[in-house]
Amino acid sequence: MKLPFSESYRIKMVEHIRRSTREEREEWIKDAHYNLFQLKSEQVFIDLLTDSGTGAMSDRQWSAMMLGDESYAGASSYYNMKSAIKDILGFDYFLPTHQGRAAENVLFSTILKEGDVVPGNSHFDTTKGHIEFRRCAAPDCTIDEAADTQLEIPFKGNMDPAKLEKILKETPHDKLPCVVLTVTNNTAGGQPVSMKNIKEVAALCKQYDVPLLMDSARFAENAYFIKQREEGYADKTIKEIVREMYQYADIMTMSSKKDAIVNMGGFVAFKSKDLWHRCQMFCIMNEGYITYGGMSGRDMNALAQGLDEGTEFDTLDSRIHQVAYLGAKLDEYGIPYQRPAGGHAIFLDAKKILTNVPKEEFIAQTLAVELYLEAGIRGVEIGSILADRDPVTRENRYPRLELLRLAIPRRTYTDNHMDVVAAAVKNVYDRRDSIKRGYVITAELPVMRHFTVELDKAK
Ligand code: F0G
Repeated sequence: MKLPFSESYRIKMVEHIRRSTREEREEWIKDAHYNLFQLKSEQVFIDLLTDSGTGAMSDRQWSAMMLGDESYAGASSYYNMKSAIKDILGFDYFLPTHQGRAAENVLFSTILKEGDVVPGNSHFDTTKGHIEFRRCAAPDCTIDEAADTQLEIPFKGNMDPAKLEKILKETPHDKLPCVVLTVTNNTAGGQPVSMKNIKEVAALCKQYDVPLLMDSARFAENAYFIKQREEGYADKTIKEIVREMYQYADIMTMSSKKDAIVNMGGFVAFKSKDLWHRCQMFCIMNEGYITYGGMSGRDMNALAQGLDEGTEFDTLDSRIHQVAYLGAKLDEYGIPYQRPAGGHAIFLDAKKILTNVPKEEFIAQTLAVELYLEAGIRGVEIGSILADRDPVTRENRYPRLELLRLAIPRRTYTDNHMDVVAAAVKNVYDRRDSIKRGYVITAELPVMRHFTVELDKAK
């Protein structure tokens, strides 16, 4: 008999989580202004808000923390991180930052100026925020197929080379500081970018002499999908594929809270010594001295160890298997989500589930609240609240997709928890016709409003 799948780790420490009643949750979510970010974590039973910084570190990462060197300058932990970045990713230069958006801040403060254009494949919200805040444009060049949630293609995160080339051709060269390729493509559903597409995008960047930036939060998951799905990669190790991916990049920004499996940390890495040098000023001003930039020595050590573990096949296989497991359960119940299942999350297609709720009343947010009320499960809206208002007209933007993301932290929950999630989604799905109204905004910030937005029931 073929042995069934199992995780490549065992558990040495556990954390208690508390169930609640529906009455309690109704009270709590009202107090939180129907914004799940405003809930206390103890009011949540299964927390799928994000896979960022919420993973379980390994025994080796915890022991690396004890060896952290907290020297202000030139700490051994910095050099451990430097070696990992060189050996695994192939970059000679980097600046540590406290997380991914801080890496974006250091880089974009240096290379962006008002009026610039930064094309990408569904820029992540902080990336888009940093670009638009500087009065630059962030045109989306994701392939059209990504918007059809029921279409099953292997690399739905790809950038459309024709869309990219049009922008590169029509924009003056001095207004093009870089192209951003996000691997995996979080916003489009944790969908991977193929090596072929990476090569095509890199070739265009070369042709038009524009640096290629890879937003790399989930680069290892991307490499796993290349190994599983792209011809010619089945026999390569994840580390070999990762090295090949970064041959084509000039810069990488990294939120290490994802694929380096740490609770906090990030970096920006460069091929160019000159750019590294120019970025140092904003690192020192905003993060810290260039050999710690916003991170403690112990965190840099854990990150170095995490980069190594996070690029091992077994680690990724256990992780992505769990996401696929949840996807398969939802298939059993006929629930529509962005297909195929992504690397870090399942993205429920809220428009196909809550067909009675008008878009002006925030369909995906309505589904998020319903799932919380059902079972204390916290997901995150990837829809029109996240999309913010148009920076020029100040009108709400209504993206083609209204998704509820259920992001699965690494090595944190068991498949039994996934069974509970699937059953709760099914219960909401079964009563979908009775959900007719959503929410209205009562308070919001001008940029990245979704974290703090306040809502009330639409009447
Ligand atoms: N880029 C991508 C693709 C991301 O998914 C994130 C964060 C960032 C950059 C910013 O990194 O959080 O360390 O500052 N994504 C988290 C999420 C927050 O839930 O998807 P950060």
